[in-house]
Amino acid sequence: MDEPIGIFDSGIGGVTVLKEIVKILPKENYIYYSDSANNPYGDKKDSEIIEICDKIVNKLINEKCKAIVIACNTASAKASKYLREKYKNIPIIAIEPAYKMVYDNSYEKPTLVMATKGTIESEKFNLLFKKYNNHKTYLLPCIGLADIIESGDTNKIKNYLNKNLGIYKNRIENVVLGCTHYPLIKKEIMQSLGDEIQFFDGATSLARHLKNILEEKEMLNKKKNKNQNIIFIDTSTKKDIRVLKEKRFYEYLKKDL
Ligand code: DGL
Repeated sequence: MDEPIGIFDSGIGGVTVLKEIVKILPKENYIYYSDSANNPYGDKKDSEIIEICDKIVNKLINEKCKAIVIACNTASAKASKYLREKYKNIPIIAIEPAYKMVYDNSYEKPTLVMATKGTIESEKFNLLFKKYNNHKTYLLPCIGLADIIESGDTNKIKNYLNKNLGIYKNRIENVVLGCTHYPLIKKEIMQSLGDEIQFFDGATSLARHLKNILEEKEMLNKKKNKNQNIIFIDTSTKKDIRVLKEKRFYEYLKKDL
């Protein structure tokens, strides 16, 4: 099946997820839907996020996508249940903060979970947190951080991190990147928290999960795919923003692939 896999986020953050997927599914085609027009999702009401995601999934299905990946922790936390109930005939794979990975691999160590306010306050995340709590965890709602990453302003990013992560410097060993935008600024986070930290994000396990599901359902693309197609769509109304985002998207995607 050479129909594309549809992936969406509130902006370019989900490229960090797509990159892991492309590594293990290089023969597939992809449509990446970067919903800049509605960025950020993190501070929106649940009903608003559900409505936005519903429209996106509908569009991706109209584009003949064979599976959907929600490459946004906030959208996953708020809308995945609704979307799976509504679109029963298409696999919908949703990212979540990699807190279980800490439980499995680094339980003893002090942990910081960075995510949007929406994710941290969500029922879905709270169930995960209660189940795998290592009792040495700080939850940090990073209000506004995804927007700054989206803008690409490095000075603003550094100032934000110094102001908000300073109190955790040298006190933290595990950092859960619970928003798909945050892996884009790993280096800067390390500068604020110290070199000893270990990062956890959900992209690699999501990619494996997606592959298993497509294998199970016999939906993988078996044909040779010399010209792998990765289409980038950005919903911003401003052309220069769309062009800039597209450039950053492909640069990040191609780097080290
Ligand atoms: N990238 C999204 C996430 O993983 C959030 C960004 C936003 O607030 O829109 O949660």
